[in-house]
Amino acid sequence: MRIAMIGTGYVGLVSGACFSEFGVHVTCVDKDAGKIERLKRGEIPIYEPGLDDLVARNVAAGRLSFTMDLKEAMQGVDAVFIAVGTPSRRGDGHADLSYVYGAAEEIAQHLDHYTVVVTKSTVPVGTGREVEAIIRRVRPDAEFDVASNPEFLREGSAIGDFMRPDRVVIGATSDRAGEVMRRLYRPLYLIETPIVITSLETAELTKYAANTFLAAKITFINEIADLCEKVGANVHDVARGIGLDGRIGKKFLHPGPGYGGSCFPKDTLALVRTAQQVGSPLRIIETVVDINDKRKKQMAERIVAACGGSVDGKTVAVLGVAFKPNTDDMRDSPSLDIVPALQAAGAHVRAFDPAAMHEAGKLLPGVEWAGDAYGTLEGADCVAILTEWNEFRALDLKRVKAMLKRPVMIDLRNIYNPDDMAKAGFIYTSIGRPT
Ligand code: UGA
Repeated sequence: MRIAMIGTGYVGLVSGACFSEFGVHVTCVDKDAGKIERLKRGEIPIYEPGLDDLVARNVAAGRLSFTMDLKEAMQGVDAVFIAVGTPSRRGDGHADLSYVYGAAEEIAQHLDHYTVVVTKSTVPVGTGREVEAIIRRVRPDAEFDVASNPEFLREGSAIGDFMRPDRVVIGATSDRAGEVMRRLYRPLYLIETPIVITSLETAELTKYAANTFLAAKITFINEIADLCEKVGANVHDVARGIGLDGRIGKKFLHPGPGYGGSCFPKDTLALVRTAQQVGSPLRIIETVVDINDKRKKQMAERIVAACGGSVDGKTVAVLGVAFKPNTDDMRDSPSLDIVPALQAAGAHVRAFDPAAMHEAGKLLPGVEWAGDAYGTLEGADCVAILTEWNEFRALDLKRVKAMLKRPVMIDLRNIYNPDDMAKAGFIYTSIGRPT
Protein backbone atom coordinates (compact mmCIF):
# COMPACT_ATOMS: atom_id res chain seq x y z
CA MET A 1 0.00 0.00 0.00
CA ARG A 2 1.04 3.58 -0.45
CA ILE A 3 0.22 6.75 1.51
CA ALA A 4 1.21 10.40 1.66
CA MET A 5 1.53 12.09 5.06
CA ILE A 6 1.17 15.88 5.04
CA GLY A 7 3.00 17.54 7.93
CA THR A 8 6.25 16.27 9.44
CA GLY A 9 5.54 17.48 12.96
CA TYR A 10 5.21 15.14 15.85
CA VAL A 11 2.14 13.22 14.71
CA GLY A 12 3.01 13.14 11.01
CA LEU A 13 6.59 12.02 11.41
CA VAL A 14 5.90 9.34 13.99
CA SER A 15 2.83 8.02 12.15
CA GLY A 16 4.61 8.10 8.78
CA ALA A 17 7.64 6.24 10.11
CA CYS A 18 5.47 3.68 11.91
CA PHE A 19 3.28 3.01 8.86
CA SER A 20 6.45 2.44 6.83
CA GLU A 21 7.55 -0.06 9.48
CA PHE A 22 4.22 -1.84 8.80
CA GLY A 23 5.40 -2.23 5.19
CA VAL A 24 3.43 0.68 3.71
CA HIS A 25 5.21 2.99 1.25
CA VAL A 26 5.08 6.41 2.88
CA THR A 27 5.97 9.82 1.48
CA CYS A 28 6.08 12.57 4.09
CA VAL A 29 5.39 16.04 2.76
CA ASP A 30 6.15 19.39 4.34
CA LYS A 31 6.34 23.00 3.15
CA ASP A 32 9.34 23.72 5.35
CA ALA A 33 12.29 23.25 2.97
CA GLY A 34 14.83 23.23 5.78
CA LYS A 35 12.97 20.50 7.60
CA ILE A 36 12.71 18.30 4.51
CA GLU A 37 16.41 18.78 3.79
CA ARG A 38 17.31 17.81 7.35
CA LEU A 39 15.05 14.77 7.24
CA LYS A 40 16.61 13.70 3.95
CA ARG A 41 20.01 13.88 5.65
CA GLY A 42 18.63 11.66 8.42
CA GLU A 43 18.33 14.41 11.04
CA ILE A 44 15.20 14.11 13.19
CA PRO A 45 13.77 17.50 14.21
CA ILE A 46 12.07 16.22 17.38
CA TYR A 47 13.29 14.29 20.37
CA GLU A 48 11.51 10.93 20.47
CA PRO A 49 13.23 7.77 21.67
CA GLY A 50 13.75 5.27 18.83
CA LEU A 51 12.51 7.52 16.04
CA ASP A 52 15.91 8.11 14.45
CA ASP A 53 16.56 4.36 14.04
CA LEU A 54 13.04 3.74 12.76
CA VAL A 55 13.36 6.49 10.15
CA ALA A 56 16.85 5.41 9.07
CA ARG A 57 15.82 1.75 8.70
CA ASN A 58 12.76 2.51 6.59
CA VAL A 59 14.47 5.12 4.45
CA ALA A 60 17.21 2.55 3.72
CA ALA A 61 14.53 -0.03 2.85
CA GLY A 62 13.02 2.43 0.35
CA ARG A 63 9.66 2.58 2.13
CA LEU A 64 9.96 6.07 3.60
CA SER A 65 10.84 9.29 1.81
CA PHE A 66 10.49 13.06 2.22
CA THR A 67 9.49 15.73 -0.24
CA MET A 68 8.00 19.18 -0.60
CA ASP A 69 6.09 18.12 -3.70
CA LEU A 70 2.57 17.00 -2.77
CA LYS A 71 1.67 16.13 -6.37
CA GLU A 72 4.54 13.66 -6.59
CA ALA A 73 3.76 12.30 -3.10
CA MET A 74 0.12 11.62 -4.00
CA GLN A 75 0.85 9.53 -7.08
CA GLY A 76 -0.77 6.11 -6.74
CA VAL A 77 -1.58 6.50 -3.04
CA ASP A 78 -4.41 4.65 -1.31
CA ALA A 79 -4.73 7.42 1.26
CA VAL A 80 -3.42 10.87 2.04
CA PHE A 81 -3.18 11.81 5.70
CA ILE A 82 -3.48 15.36 7.02
CA ALA A 83 -1.22 15.66 10.06
CA VAL A 84 -0.64 19.39 10.18
CA GLY A 85 -0.79 21.55 13.31
CA THR A 86 -4.05 22.72 14.91
CA PRO A 87 -2.84 25.27 17.45
CA SER A 88 -5.17 27.14 19.81
CA ARG A 89 -6.43 30.24 18.03
CA ARG A 90 -5.26 33.35 19.82
CA GLY A 91 -7.99 34.95 21.88
CA ASP A 92 -10.80 32.40 21.81
CA GLY A 93 -9.22 28.97 22.44
CA HIS A 94 -10.82 27.40 19.36
CA ALA A 95 -8.56 25.13 17.31
CA ASP A 96 -7.02 27.00 14.36
CA LEU A 97 -7.94 24.92 11.31
CA SER A 98 -6.36 27.05 8.62
CA TYR A 99 -3.53 24.55 8.03
CA VAL A 100 -5.99 21.64 7.80
CA TYR A 101 -8.22 23.45 5.31
CA GLY A 102 -5.19 24.66 3.36
CA ALA A 103 -4.02 21.06 3.05
CA ALA A 104 -7.51 20.01 1.87
CA GLU A 105 -7.41 22.62 -0.92
CA GLU A 106 -4.04 21.39 -2.08
CA ILE A 107 -5.03 17.74 -1.94
CA ALA A 108 -8.06 18.54 -4.09
CA GLN A 109 -5.82 19.91 -6.83
CA HIS A 110 -3.85 16.66 -7.10
CA LEU A 111 -6.56 14.00 -6.78
CA ASP A 112 -6.42 11.82 -9.91
CA HIS A 113 -7.69 8.43 -8.65
CA TYR A 114 -9.80 7.13 -5.74
CA THR A 115 -8.10 8.26 -2.53
CA VAL A 116 -9.10 8.28 1.10
CA VAL A 117 -8.40 11.68 2.66
CA VAL A 118 -7.70 11.10 6.35
CA THR A 119 -7.47 13.66 9.13
CA LYS A 120 -4.93 12.54 11.72
CA SER A 121 -4.55 15.91 13.41
CA THR A 122 -6.84 16.44 16.40
CA VAL A 123 -9.71 18.35 14.84
CA PRO A 124 -13.05 19.55 16.21
CA VAL A 125 -16.22 17.74 15.30
CA GLY A 126 -17.32 18.78 11.85
CA THR A 127 -13.85 19.33 10.42
CA GLY A 128 -13.91 16.14 8.33
CA ARG A 129 -17.20 17.21 6.72
CA GLU A 130 -15.68 20.61 5.97
CA VAL A 131 -12.61 18.96 4.43
CA GLU A 132 -14.99 16.93 2.26
CA ALA A 133 -16.89 20.08 1.25
CA ILE A 134 -13.69 21.95 0.38
CA ILE A 135 -12.42 19.16 -1.84
CA ARG A 136 -15.84 18.77 -3.46
CA ARG A 137 -15.93 22.51 -4.15
CA VAL A 138 -12.50 22.57 -5.76
CA ARG A 139 -12.92 19.27 -7.60
CA PRO A 140 -16.60 18.28 -8.02
CA ASP A 141 -15.54 15.33 -10.17
CA ALA A 142 -12.91 13.83 -7.84
CA GLU A 143 -13.18 10.25 -6.56
CA PHE A 144 -12.48 10.29 -2.83
CA ASP A 145 -13.81 9.63 0.64
CA VAL A 146 -12.97 11.35 3.88
CA ALA A 147 -11.96 9.51 7.06
CA SER A 148 -10.95 10.48 10.57
CA ASN A 149 -8.21 8.52 12.30
CA PRO A 150 -7.26 10.27 15.54
CA GLU A 151 -4.00 9.28 17.17
CA PHE A 152 -3.46 8.45 20.82
CA LEU A 153 0.34 8.70 20.95
CA ARG A 154 2.13 10.01 24.00
CA GLU A 155 5.31 11.95 23.50
CA GLY A 156 8.25 9.93 24.75
CA SER A 157 6.55 6.60 24.08
CA ALA A 158 4.98 7.38 20.73
CA ILE A 159 6.43 4.48 18.74
CA GLY A 160 5.28 1.87 21.26
CA ASP A 161 1.87 3.53 21.41
CA PHE A 162 1.55 3.35 17.61
CA MET A 163 2.80 -0.21 17.29
CA ARG A 164 0.84 -1.61 20.25
CA PRO A 165 -2.19 0.65 20.70
CA ASP A 166 -5.09 -0.10 23.05
CA ARG A 167 -7.35 0.54 20.07
CA VAL A 168 -7.52 2.21 16.68
CA VAL A 169 -10.43 4.57 16.01
CA ILE A 170 -11.53 5.10 12.43
CA GLY A 171 -14.38 7.33 11.34
CA ALA A 172 -15.22 6.58 7.72
CA THR A 173 -17.79 7.93 5.28
CA SER A 174 -18.00 4.72 3.23
CA ASP A 175 -17.28 0.99 3.49
CA ARG A 176 -14.64 1.43 0.81
CA ALA A 177 -12.76 4.00 2.89
CA GLY A 178 -13.15 1.85 6.01
CA GLU A 179 -11.64 -1.09 4.13
CA VAL A 180 -8.59 0.94 2.99
CA MET A 181 -8.03 2.07 6.58
CA ARG A 182 -8.36 -1.47 7.93
CA ARG A 183 -5.79 -2.71 5.42
CA LEU A 184 -3.33 -0.01 6.51
CA TYR A 185 -3.54 -1.28 10.09
CA ARG A 186 -3.46 -4.97 9.14
CA PRO A 187 -0.30 -5.81 11.19
CA LEU A 188 -2.25 -4.86 14.32
CA TYR A 189 -4.75 -7.68 13.72
CA LEU A 190 -2.00 -10.11 14.71
CA ILE A 191 -1.94 -8.59 18.19
CA GLU A 192 -5.74 -8.45 18.25
CA THR A 193 -5.99 -4.67 18.53
CA PRO A 194 -9.65 -3.59 18.62
CA ILE A 195 -10.51 -1.41 15.64
CA VAL A 196 -13.44 0.89 16.38
CA ILE A 197 -15.16 1.93 13.17
CA THR A 198 -17.53 4.87 13.55
CA SER A 199 -18.93 7.89 11.78
CA LEU A 200 -16.64 10.85 11.09
CA GLU A 201 -18.17 12.96 13.85
CA THR A 202 -17.92 10.19 16.42
CA ALA A 203 -14.24 9.55 15.71
CA GLU A 204 -13.47 13.27 15.97
CA LEU A 205 -15.30 13.57 19.28
CA THR A 206 -13.76 10.36 20.63
CA LYS A 207 -10.29 11.88 20.49
CA TYR A 208 -11.36 14.95 22.47
CA ALA A 209 -13.38 12.87 24.91
CA ALA A 210 -10.30 10.70 25.58
CA ASN A 211 -7.94 13.61 26.19
CA THR A 212 -10.38 15.62 28.29
CA PHE A 213 -11.25 12.56 30.37
CA LEU A 214 -7.56 11.94 31.06
CA ALA A 215 -7.03 15.62 31.91
CA ALA A 216 -9.98 15.39 34.33
CA LYS A 217 -8.51 12.22 35.88
CA ILE A 218 -5.20 13.98 36.51
CA THR A 219 -6.96 17.04 37.89
CA PHE A 220 -9.05 14.85 40.15
CA ILE A 221 -6.01 13.19 41.70
CA ASN A 222 -4.28 16.57 42.03
CA GLU A 223 -7.20 17.87 44.07
CA ILE A 224 -7.28 14.67 46.13
CA ALA A 225 -3.53 15.23 46.73
CA ASP A 226 -4.24 18.70 48.10
CA LEU A 227 -6.88 17.22 50.37
CA CYS A 228 -4.46 14.48 51.49
CA GLU A 229 -2.06 17.17 52.65
CA LYS A 230 -4.75 18.74 54.82
CA VAL A 231 -5.91 15.49 56.43
CA GLY A 232 -2.60 13.63 56.66
CA ALA A 233 -3.36 10.98 54.03
CA ASN A 234 -1.09 9.61 51.30
CA VAL A 235 -2.27 10.27 47.74
CA HIS A 236 -0.34 7.33 46.26
CA ASP A 237 -2.10 4.89 48.53
CA VAL A 238 -5.43 6.52 47.67
CA ALA A 239 -4.58 6.25 43.96
CA ARG A 240 -3.68 2.58 44.34
CA GLY A 241 -6.71 1.92 46.46
CA ILE A 242 -9.08 3.35 43.88
CA GLY A 243 -7.05 2.42 40.78
CA LEU A 244 -7.25 -1.32 41.46
CA ASP A 245 -10.97 -1.02 40.83
CA GLY A 246 -11.12 -1.93 37.15
CA ARG A 247 -13.84 0.65 36.60
CA ILE A 248 -11.40 3.39 37.59
CA GLY A 249 -8.05 2.03 36.40
CA LYS A 250 -4.56 2.61 37.77
CA LYS A 251 -3.10 4.84 35.07
CA PHE A 252 -3.06 8.64 35.00
CA LEU A 253 -3.50 8.95 38.74
CA HIS A 254 -0.06 10.39 39.41
CA PRO A 255 -0.30 13.81 41.07
CA GLY A 256 1.96 16.62 39.93
CA PRO A 257 2.23 20.30 39.09
CA GLY A 258 -0.70 20.19 36.64
CA TYR A 259 -0.90 18.71 33.16
CA GLY A 260 0.93 20.43 30.32
CA GLY A 261 2.09 19.56 26.82
CA SER A 262 0.85 20.14 23.34
CA CYS A 263 -2.41 18.24 23.74
CA PHE A 264 -4.32 18.34 27.02
CA PRO A 265 -4.32 22.15 27.56
CA LYS A 266 -5.23 22.82 23.92
CA ASP A 267 -7.79 20.04 23.57
CA THR A 268 -9.61 20.69 26.86
CA LEU A 269 -10.00 24.32 25.88
CA ALA A 270 -11.11 23.53 22.33
CA LEU A 271 -13.75 21.05 23.51
CA VAL A 272 -15.02 23.53 26.09
CA ARG A 273 -15.45 26.09 23.31
CA THR A 274 -17.17 23.64 20.95
CA ALA A 275 -19.55 22.54 23.68
CA GLN A 276 -20.43 26.14 24.60
CA GLN A 277 -20.94 26.96 20.95
CA VAL A 278 -23.50 24.20 20.41
CA GLY A 279 -25.27 25.00 23.68
CA SER A 280 -24.22 21.85 25.54
CA PRO A 281 -21.55 23.14 27.92
CA LEU A 282 -19.12 20.69 29.55
CA ARG A 283 -19.04 22.15 33.01
CA ILE A 284 -16.71 19.49 34.40
CA ILE A 285 -14.08 20.24 31.79
CA GLU A 286 -14.50 24.01 32.20
CA THR A 287 -13.64 23.50 35.85
CA VAL A 288 -10.73 21.19 35.02
CA VAL A 289 -9.22 23.87 32.78
CA ASP A 290 -9.61 26.47 35.50
CA ILE A 291 -8.16 24.28 38.28
CA ASN A 292 -5.19 23.24 36.16
CA ASP A 293 -4.32 26.83 35.18
CA LYS A 294 -4.40 27.90 38.81
CA ARG A 295 -2.47 24.85 39.96
CA LYS A 296 0.54 25.63 37.80
CA LYS A 297 0.71 29.08 39.33
CA GLN A 298 0.27 27.72 42.86
CA MET A 299 3.34 25.54 42.43
CA ALA A 300 5.62 28.58 42.56
CA GLU A 301 3.99 29.54 45.87
CA ARG A 302 4.80 26.06 47.18
CA ILE A 303 8.46 26.59 46.36
CA VAL A 304 8.45 30.04 47.96
CA ALA A 305 6.80 28.61 51.10
CA ALA A 306 9.43 25.84 51.30
CA CYS A 307 12.10 28.54 51.16
CA GLY A 308 10.67 30.14 54.29
CA GLY A 309 8.18 32.51 52.67
CA SER A 310 10.48 34.47 50.37
CA VAL A 311 12.85 33.75 47.49
CA ASP A 312 13.91 37.37 47.10
CA GLY A 313 17.64 37.41 46.45
CA LYS A 314 17.79 33.60 46.69
CA THR A 315 18.94 31.04 44.14
CA VAL A 316 16.47 28.30 43.19
CA ALA A 317 17.90 25.21 41.48
CA VAL A 318 15.37 23.74 39.02
CA LEU A 319 15.63 20.18 37.73
CA GLY A 320 13.62 19.62 34.56
CA VAL A 321 11.67 22.16 32.52
CA ALA A 322 10.05 19.97 29.82
CA PHE A 323 6.37 19.17 30.42
CA LYS A 324 7.32 15.56 30.99
CA PRO A 325 10.41 13.33 30.62
CA ASN A 326 11.76 11.96 27.34
CA THR A 327 10.76 14.98 25.35
CA ASP A 328 12.21 18.39 24.54
CA ASP A 329 8.68 19.78 24.25
CA MET A 330 8.08 22.93 26.29
CA ARG A 331 4.52 23.61 25.13
CA ASP A 332 2.34 24.57 28.09
CA SER A 333 4.92 23.12 30.45
CA PRO A 334 4.26 23.96 34.11
CA SER A 335 7.81 25.38 34.21
CA LEU A 336 6.60 28.26 32.00
CA ASP A 337 4.38 29.41 34.87
CA ILE A 338 6.62 28.39 37.76
CA VAL A 339 9.99 29.82 36.69
CA PRO A 340 8.78 33.35 35.76
CA ALA A 341 6.78 33.51 39.01
CA LEU A 342 9.91 32.67 41.00
CA GLN A 343 11.86 35.29 39.08
CA ALA A 344 9.13 37.85 39.68
CA ALA A 345 9.43 37.08 43.38
CA GLY A 346 13.12 38.02 43.19
CA ALA A 347 14.73 34.58 42.78
CA HIS A 348 17.68 33.75 40.58
CA VAL A 349 16.84 30.48 38.78
CA ARG A 350 19.57 28.03 37.79
CA ALA A 351 18.17 25.12 35.80
CA PHE A 352 18.99 21.95 33.92
CA ASP A 353 16.97 19.73 31.60
CA PRO A 354 18.44 16.77 29.71
CA ALA A 355 16.68 17.62 26.42
CA ALA A 356 14.61 20.81 26.56
CA MET A 357 17.20 23.52 27.30
CA HIS A 358 17.53 24.58 23.71
CA GLU A 359 13.78 25.22 23.44
CA ALA A 360 13.52 26.54 27.00
CA GLY A 361 16.31 29.07 26.46
CA LYS A 362 14.01 31.01 24.11
CA LEU A 363 11.02 30.85 26.47
CA LEU A 364 12.59 31.39 29.87
CA PRO A 365 14.81 34.47 29.74
CA GLY A 366 17.07 35.21 32.68
CA VAL A 367 17.58 31.57 33.64
CA GLU A 368 21.15 30.43 34.17
CA TRP A 369 21.49 27.03 32.41
CA ALA A 370 23.69 24.34 33.92
CA GLY A 371 25.54 21.46 32.24
CA ASP A 372 24.01 18.77 34.44
CA ALA A 373 21.80 18.32 37.51
CA TYR A 374 24.64 18.96 39.97
CA GLY A 375 25.62 22.10 38.07
CA THR A 376 22.43 23.79 39.31
CA LEU A 377 23.08 23.19 43.00
CA GLU A 378 26.20 25.02 44.21
CA GLY A 379 25.13 27.55 46.85
CA ALA A 380 21.43 27.31 45.91
CA ASP A 381 18.84 27.93 48.62
CA CYS A 382 16.67 25.02 47.47
CA VAL A 383 16.23 22.52 44.66
CA ALA A 384 12.88 22.03 42.91
CA ILE A 385 12.15 18.98 40.73
CA LEU A 386 9.73 19.96 37.97
CA THR A 387 10.10 17.01 35.57
CA GLU A 388 10.57 13.35 36.51
CA TRP A 389 13.51 12.54 34.23
CA ASN A 390 15.06 9.19 35.21
CA GLU A 391 18.44 10.78 35.81
CA PHE A 392 16.94 12.86 38.64
CA ARG A 393 15.62 9.78 40.41
CA ALA A 394 18.93 8.57 41.75
CA LEU A 395 20.86 11.70 42.66
CA ASP A 396 23.74 11.35 45.13
CA LEU A 397 21.86 12.91 48.05
CA LYS A 398 24.99 13.47 50.14
CA ARG A 399 26.47 15.43 47.31
CA VAL A 400 23.23 17.35 46.74
CA LYS A 401 23.05 18.26 50.42
CA ALA A 402 26.67 19.34 50.55
CA MET A 403 26.24 21.64 47.54
CA LEU A 404 23.02 23.36 48.64
CA LYS A 405 23.14 26.30 51.02
CA ARG A 406 20.13 24.81 52.82
CA PRO A 407 18.97 21.19 52.27
CA VAL A 408 15.54 22.13 50.94
CA MET A 409 13.99 19.98 48.22
CA ILE A 410 10.60 20.59 46.59
CA ASP A 411 9.71 17.47 44.65
CA LEU A 412 6.70 18.31 42.47
CA ARG A 413 6.78 14.84 40.87
CA ASN A 414 7.07 12.72 44.01
CA ILE A 415 10.12 10.84 42.77
CA TYR A 416 11.69 10.57 46.24
CA ASN A 417 10.44 8.95 49.40
CA PRO A 418 9.63 11.36 52.25
CA ASP A 419 11.07 9.01 54.93
CA ASP A 420 14.33 8.51 53.05
CA MET A 421 14.62 12.23 52.51
CA ALA A 422 14.04 12.98 56.17
CA LYS A 423 16.73 10.42 57.10
CA ALA A 424 19.10 12.04 54.60
CA GLY A 425 18.56 15.34 56.45
CA PHE A 426 16.46 17.15 53.86
CA ILE A 427 13.61 19.57 54.44
CA TYR A 428 11.48 17.83 51.88
CA THR A 429 8.17 18.93 50.32
CA SER A 430 6.24 16.81 47.85
CA ILE A 431 2.65 16.47 46.65
CA GLY A 432 -0.10 14.87 48.69
CA ARG A 433 2.04 12.88 51.11
CA PRO A 434 2.56 13.25 54.83
CA THR A 435 6.03 14.53 55.63
C1 UGA B 1 -1.52 12.96 25.49
C2 UGA B 1 -2.30 11.63 25.58
O1 UGA B 1 -1.83 10.85 26.68
C3 UGA B 1 -2.15 10.84 24.29
O2 UGA B 1 -2.96 9.65 24.35
C4 UGA B 1 -2.62 11.72 23.11
O3 UGA B 1 -2.46 11.06 21.88
C5 UGA B 1 -1.78 12.99 23.09
O4 UGA B 1 -1.96 13.69 24.34
C6 UGA B 1 -2.28 13.83 21.93
O5 UGA B 1 -3.43 14.26 21.95
O6 UGA B 1 -1.56 13.96 20.94
P1 UGA B 1 1.05 13.67 25.81
O7 UGA B 1 0.54 15.08 25.82
O8 UGA B 1 2.20 13.33 24.96
O9 UGA B 1 -0.13 12.66 25.39
O10 UGA B 1 1.48 13.34 27.29
P2 UGA B 1 0.91 12.56 28.56
O11 UGA B 1 1.84 11.48 28.91
O12 UGA B 1 -0.51 12.21 28.39
O13 UGA B 1 1.06 13.69 29.67
C7 UGA B 1 0.33 14.92 29.61
C8 UGA B 1 0.50 15.71 30.87
O14 UGA B 1 -0.15 15.08 31.96
C9 UGA B 1 1.95 15.88 31.33
O15 UGA B 1 2.13 17.20 31.77
C10 UGA B 1 2.10 14.90 32.46
O16 UGA B 1 3.08 15.27 33.38
C11 UGA B 1 0.73 14.96 33.06
N1 UGA B 1 0.36 13.74 33.81
C12 UGA B 1 0.15 12.56 33.18
C13 UGA B 1 0.21 13.82 35.19
O17 UGA B 1 0.38 14.90 35.81
N2 UGA B 1 -0.17 12.70 35.88
C14 UGA B 1 -0.39 11.52 35.26
O18 UGA B 1 -0.73 10.53 35.96
C15 UGA B 1 -0.21 11.44 33.89
